[in-house]
Amino acid sequence: MKINIKNRIEQLRQEINEHNYRYYILTDPAVSDFEYDNLFRELQQLEQEHPELVTQDSPTQRVGAQPVSDFAAVQHEVPMLSLENAFTNEEVFAFDKRISERLETSVPIEYVCEPKLDGLAISLRYEDGIFVQGATRGDGSTGEEITENLRTIATVPLKLRGDHFPKVVDVRGEVFMPKAGFLALNERAQKNNEKIFANPRNAAAGSLRQLDPRITAKRPLALYVYSIGVLEGMKFPETQSEALSLLKSWGFAVNPEISNAKNIRECLDFYERIGKKREKLTYEIDGVVYKVNSITDQNRLGFVSRAPRWAIAHKFPAEQAVTMIEDVEFQVGRTGAVTPVARLKPVFVSGVTVRNATLHNMDEVKRKDIHIGDSVIIQRAGDVIPEVVSVLQEKRPVNAKKIVLPSVCPVCHSNIETIEGEAVARCTGGLFCPAQRKEAIKHFASRRAMDIEGLGEKLVDQLVEAGLVNNPADLYQLTLQQLSSLERMATKSAQNLLDALEKSKKTTLPRFLFSLGIREVGEATAKSLAKYFGDIAPLFSVTDEMLQTIRDVGPVVARYIVAFFNEAHNRKVIDMLMASGIEWKKIEKEERELPLANKTFVLTGTLQHFSREEAKEKLENLGAKVAGSVSAKTSYVVVGEDAGSKLVKAQELGVAIMSEDMFLDFLKNYH
Ligand code: IVH
Repeated sequence: MKINIKNRIEQLRQEINEHNYRYYILTDPAVSDFEYDNLFRELQQLEQEHPELVTQDSPTQRVGAQPVSDFAAVQHEVPMLSLENAFTNEEVFAFDKRISERLETSVPIEYVCEPKLDGLAISLRYEDGIFVQGATRGDGSTGEEITENLRTIATVPLKLRGDHFPKVVDVRGEVFMPKAGFLALNERAQKNNEKIFANPRNAAAGSLRQLDPRITAKRPLALYVYSIGVLEGMKFPETQSEALSLLKSWGFAVNPEISNAKNIRECLDFYERIGKKREKLTYEIDGVVYKVNSITDQNRLGFVSRAPRWAIAHKFPAEQAVTMIEDVEFQVGRTGAVTPVARLKPVFVSGVTVRNATLHNMDEVKRKDIHIGDSVIIQRAGDVIPEVVSVLQEKRPVNAKKIVLPSVCPVCHSNIETIEGEAVARCTGGLFCPAQRKEAIKHFASRRAMDIEGLGEKLVDQLVEAGLVNNPADLYQLTLQQLSSLERMATKSAQNLLDALEKSKKTTLPRFLFSLGIREVGEATAKSLAKYFGDIAPLFSVTDEMLQTIRDVGPVVARYIVAFFNEAHNRKVIDMLMASGIEWKKIEKEERELPLANKTFVLTGTLQHFSREEAKEKLENLGAKVAGSVSAKTSYVVVGEDAGSKLVKAQELGVAIMSEDMFLDFLKNYH
């Protein structure tokens, strides 16, 4: 009996998988919805009666996983690269020329041309043909594990088709939200007073990054795959087109528009063709991608920083439209920057209604000679905020109004200041200015910073306006009673927020540093600082010079960092935050990037202030190597009294020489 049930289950799974494949991948269904539903229900029923027979790759297992509290980090074995952009045909020809030169060939290069989907790059890992892990691209080397969310996407195979599949394969592709699904989602959201997504890309990203897979399951997401990362137990395909065929044979959806080009001219033909078809496509694209077809050549070409030399994204120009500037308002950002924003007569551009456009700053307003009442050409490129390209001067009405920078901040009435040589005007109110306060708190709570779930824009506005929160540290002092007294805030949501705040206290040092909103300190800089200092305390007494020895930290950022930590108010906020229990895993010394890593010192002669051993130890503690002899690789030679041949050698090789006094000064930087 059991054997029969097992067989039936197996048979049902195979049939359902086949129907799914025909429906979603070939878009050529073989049975009616009714017949399909019957098979699916039978399988569900049998699995319910025999839970021990449920397997991860069963078609019933697309939804049902429990919500998670956080996404685990996934290290990409093969990094997920990004692409260089080209905007003109000349840039595309130059790309082709660079490749021919590097490969030292005069034979035309063959390419594969692919639409560039505007979605989210992901990686799917299959072991013995079974889907075991899915991750976002993240920063290219580390992504977030979103296996259960990806599982809910119908075009993600839970099991590879056929029986000729490798031991391990990492498949890369783009998750996107088709235009129709996006519009329907937003319509529903509007009705329910929920968040409206600005574009399909944001909608796809927001849907994939849901802690609850049941929400992802309700979102109309799709996947096209375009490459193989890791492949074990099978020969790597020789060309990109072979890789795509192989992926197709395993049951993945590959974009049907993809086409081969014998040379770069044919790539440009593809660009034209797809450009004409763009409106009719059921998904958004922002350009096309050309990839060298031969994988051997790809490997020979390699990559520079984060982008391969063998591929390029040829972007479509930004879409433009004509509309009218009805008014201009001034917005105050987190750093106090006062930005003129044009309120436009609503206009539809590439799929969205545009109501605002940034005018950047007053220099731009002057340069483009923009007035209120003007008819203007606006443009919108991908994710970027729409901007005004130019004014249709001939249409200027007689009552057009000049745009004037206010002398005081529209929010806090502090003076507005424009620094010599800087285009940006700033409110001088600092954290006293509610706009800066609000923005600082929004930034602090945001996903990549402290990730306080549920603390969105509206709530921050409410909290600041109610006078409950004046700085990030105040957040952790909020009580259930205070929160419940806010308008539209039920006790349950208030408790949820308190829970989220509590949860956010366990963080990482880079996140914490990033969340402080120090000017010019983005995630990468925050990471470098964390690696270097290992803790927050050393930053309180940091100097410009010390900061500038850190990778990615130039003089400007260094100045902002020092100024930030010198400000008593900021130190107080940090102290309060620490006192409320914010903590992170200590960064061990081994993991830290020590300031003198990669530097080699040679000590010679007699030092007055310490023994050779002591000097050596000091240097080694800072990560430097101390060598016995001078070579071209030596970074510095420290010269004490009666130095001999090593000094001569250093002079010959042009190696930097430090006297003991210089050395003492040098070490002071690292206290
Ligand atoms: S290949 C080897 N192919 O564009 C380079 N990327 O700007 C890796 N994208 O992160 C990407 N369509 O999210 C490739 N046909 C396509 C693509 C594509 C969209 C996205 C992807 C990537 C980004 C790079």
